[in-house]
Amino acid sequence: MYEQISHSLLNEILDDLKPEIRRQDLRHFYTRLGANFYAIHNLFHHLYGRRDDFKEQMLKLVETLARQYIQRPEELEKLDIARENDHNWFLNQKWVGMALYSAGFADDLAGVADNTSYFQELGINLVHIMPILECPTGRSDGGYAVSNFRQIDSRVGKLEDLQRVSSEFRKRDILLTLDVVLNHTSDEHEWAQRAKAGEQKYQDYYYIFDNREIPDMFEQSMPEIFPETAPGNFTWDETLQKWVMTVFNDYQWDLNYSNPSVFIEMLDVILFWINQGADIIRLDAVAFLWKKMGTTCQNEREAHLLLQLMKDCCQVTAPGSLFIAEAIVAPVEITKYFGEDAIIAKECEIAYNATLMALLWDALATRNSKLLYQGLKSLPDKLERATWLNYVRCHDDIGLGFDDNDVRHVGYDPVAHRRFLVDFYTGAYEDSIASGVPFMRNEKTGDARIAGSLASLAGLETAIQSDDEHAIDIALNKIILMHSVIFSFGGLPLLYYGDEIATFNDHSYLDQPDKANDSRWIHRPKIDWERAEQRKKQGTVEYAVFSALKKMIAIRKETTAFADFNNRQLIECENPHIFSFIRYDHNRPSEQVLVICNFSEQPQRIKMEKFNTAGFGIYGQVSDLYTGKRPTEFDQQLVIQPCQFYWLTEY
Ligand code: GLC
Repeated sequence: MYEQISHSLLNEILDDLKPEIRRQDLRHFYTRLGANFYAIHNLFHHLYGRRDDFKEQMLKLVETLARQYIQRPEELEKLDIARENDHNWFLNQKWVGMALYSAGFADDLAGVADNTSYFQELGINLVHIMPILECPTGRSDGGYAVSNFRQIDSRVGKLEDLQRVSSEFRKRDILLTLDVVLNHTSDEHEWAQRAKAGEQKYQDYYYIFDNREIPDMFEQSMPEIFPETAPGNFTWDETLQKWVMTVFNDYQWDLNYSNPSVFIEMLDVILFWINQGADIIRLDAVAFLWKKMGTTCQNEREAHLLLQLMKDCCQVTAPGSLFIAEAIVAPVEITKYFGEDAIIAKECEIAYNATLMALLWDALATRNSKLLYQGLKSLPDKLERATWLNYVRCHDDIGLGFDDNDVRHVGYDPVAHRRFLVDFYTGAYEDSIASGVPFMRNEKTGDARIAGSLASLAGLETAIQSDDEHAIDIALNKIILMHSVIFSFGGLPLLYYGDEIATFNDHSYLDQPDKANDSRWIHRPKIDWERAEQRKKQGTVEYAVFSALKKMIAIRKETTAFADFNNRQLIECENPHIFSFIRYDHNRPSEQVLVICNFSEQPQRIKMEKFNTAGFGIYGQVSDLYTGKRPTEFDQQLVIQPCQFYWLTEY
């Protein structure tokens, strides 16, 4: 958009750019800056316009964008242009991801580069390498307490190793995803250290208070994130003799984004890693970016404006890059991280589908799909040019973040139902063989979350211990069933490393003092590569899971109806154990896939009319894409085995 004020400011800024920047070939940069400047100026003004140094900060911002553009390797710039021309490239069904810790997967980054063939074997072409940046030993929150945003932690490798990973990946068309921990730094970060040493400039990077007066006011409305280990949202710092805002752990200092210098520094960090070859940046804890007294300090409007601004800025320098929003918040809030009142994503193109994840675990425990349907019906549609990141497990806990109204709507009491789920997955419920553990029980609210590996939560660990063949089969079916949904639902499926070979809980964290009080370590495995070899041996559980996932991935990639273009219709049938939806391809009406999942441990039957009415010709010739066979029918009803699924297609 052309608008006089922002345009004349842009002219001024371009005149003031440092000569070494002006001398470069900035054609593409100027075109994109011109296109985005109105939005950038507006947002920056909205957030920081009241400051006397506004213009100076605006110049700094543009210089940061230009400098990083100049640094952008030619190969990546070409990719930017190719992706601009094919702007829906990431909605294609060909992408399948895996998240991993480099040290858990293969010792270090060099090991990740050496094991690229493993991803190819399974069909993975998007790898999220969890935090790799320098962080203190012990007080690191699994790498999410960064002490240097530009230095790779020596325990996982060097910049050259990452460059090797990136080039190995690029050769094989594998996307690289890296984290930028936006919301906070470690208390050992240089900024925190300089704040402690008394430098006002850096004290202004954080929320620091002389006494409890303001912290107490904040506390009245702020929930606790880690109530067991880090109660409250402020920490007394002995050196400073002041209170510091620390929403997560006491060593994670919250950055103050009402200071434009913080914004510009962090944007520079994002662009730095994008220039090192990251195709996608996972923006950690985005819901927390803006703090406002009297609120929960989550999902504030300004947090969204900050993300819009970051997106607009990245589009100027590196438009081929994408953002993933890690916002594990209420279902109606999550979709806002694509951008509100927009048609295409204007904040993050991808968001964790924490809603689907939690609902799937609900369906598995209750053997009933009613909350799954209800929760999905209440989830607002995603935008165009935006997609979900669908997952079953990740390095974090399973939060039961359903909407209470949905829970009541299907006839459960929210508190009792959540208690049941926690009991179910931690094995406290007598009818359950799941072997998870609770995470962060909050005695004040009665709230708790769940930790545990997929295989252990699905009951495989207990079933094997008790040598119960039937239970083993059911648990394997459950693992495969959960994945059958994330592969077909629409969005990017993200596997969690180790799940593909049915890795169990790892209790060794209990012997490590710096981990013992964080039960999430139970599901952050060190891959046992000898065990992984079993994936090649028929009859093993590793083979059963690995080969099933591999097959589903291969089929997904060939099935255009699985691409994510708002091409899904939920189908409700009278059988409460069944979850079903149709995926279709707008361009090829004949390419429909009917997904039917049985969440019960008993075989189920369903009448076929329902699907017919929805336009799926079940009376014609139908076969299951997964098995290649016709589905079982009995008495005009479709039969579906315990915890199994169909991907039906007409031929
Ligand atoms: C994100 C990470 C989580 C971490 C938190 C605080 O939610 O996924 O592991 O504890 O941020 O950084």
